Amino acid sequence: MIIEIFTLFPEMFNVPLQASILGRAIERGLLQINLHNIRDYAIDRHSTVDDYAYGGGPGMVLKPEPLFQAVDSVLGKNPKCPIVLLTPQGNVFKQSIAVRFSKMDKIAFICGHYEGFDERIREHLATEELSIGDYVLTGGELPAMVVVDAVARLKEGVLGSEESASTDSHFSGLLQYPQYTRPPDFRGWKVPEILLSGNHGAVAKWRQEQSLKRTLKRRPDLHPERPSSDKSD
Ligand SMILES: C[S@@+](CC[C@H](N)C(=O)[O-])C[C@H]1O[C@@H](n2cnc3c(N)ncnc32)[C@H](O)[C@@H]1O
Repeated sequence: MIIEIFTLFPEMFNVPLQASILGRAIERGLLQINLHNIRDYAIDRHSTVDDYAYGGGPGMVLKPEPLFQAVDSVLGKNPKCPIVLLTPQGNVFKQSIAVRFSKMDKIAFICGHYEGFDERIREHLATEELSIGDYVLTGGELPAMVVVDAVARLKEGVLGSEESASTDSHFSGLLQYPQYTRPPDFRGWKVPEILLSGNHGAVAKWRQEQSLKRTLKRRPDLHPERPSSDKSD
């Protein structure tokens, strides 16, 4: 999978993408992440990428020319892949979107900064807009990393065991069951007997019940018995 990221701060991606599971996926050629500095596509000799907002107001607005130029140069005039604009005004990112993206060969992300970006970027360059939650961050770099991480771990071969993604919270629509490891008794807090029983059928049943119970308690909005008309998906 190829991921093209347009940003003013490519250096922010270095450590998070090189460490751990994503780093290994890149090394093994399962994931290719290309970082493009929007400033390299500025059209004036001062490399200007932002300007004051028409109509006044605080903060600087990302200019359209460098971004259109950057995307045209990297993806060509009629790109086939999604061009995702990270913005607190977008659809809220969730697992079903990660699953959809994980089936693609290429995705591009545009990271905003400062007060925001010229509306023509939203209207005529981006193919979709994503938010990672109802709060405002300084830039789109952390949101892009969040989305790339969630998508990459769903790609075949990225996780050590295929099991890991399929038992995660949200994969089946439910929250994951409680997990325990050794010791069986820690400070008097015991691991549920059933997990030590070796009875795989009983363990699977217990886990399914726990998942349902936990989802009902913590995220009733996700519970399967909730009428489908109420669900956000
Ligand atoms: C300070 S924010 C600008 C917010 C903008 N003034 C508004 O009210 O919509 C700067 C950039 O950070 C990114 N950003 C901030 N919060 C985000 C979120 N929750 N999800 C995705 N991107 C976000 C976007 O790329 C945004 O253009």
